[in-house]
Amino acid sequence: MIKISIINGPNLNMLGLREVNHYGKYTLEDINKEISGVAKDLSLDVDFFQSNSEGDIVTYIQNCRNVFDGIIINPGAYTHTSVAIRDALLAVSIPFVEVHLSNVHAREEFRKQSYFSDKALGVITGFGKAGYLFALKGISEHIAATKTALS
Ligand code: DQA
Repeated sequence: MIKISIINGPNLNMLGLREVNHYGKYTLEDINKEISGVAKDLSLDVDFFQSNSEGDIVTYIQNCRNVFDGIIINPGAYTHTSVAIRDALLAVSIPFVEVHLSNVHAREEFRKQSYFSDKALGVITGFGKAGYLFALKGISEHIAATKTALS
């Protein structure tokens, strides 16, 4: 079974309470429940991790090596600052999709810079929680195609 890890960075545990104009009224738990439902339909194994700490995210990604086939990550504010999380993703060589709830290109200038986009399989920004579901479909199809090609 294809295994995907869903990683959320800082302040995403505050969804439902924080800046609802940008991020919506749903909680991270609501999003994860929807992801689990879609994963079940697609016969995927999904795992969830959220942390407000850069080092913990780096360590978690290092431990994903040889465990997960793909990663979906919303790095939150670390999108715009973290060379360390970028390097961890490159170190484990796991394909990843970068997801943002809000359209980061329609906001402040500093949000347009990402340390992840040029290395991501794909980037989904601005579709709210649906972005995670699109990412799940996209990355699982990519992994299935790659696995078939290798076998
Ligand atoms: C975010 C966008 C980031 O700029 C911000 O710091 C977040 C959330 C999004 O999902 O839209 O925390 O990644």
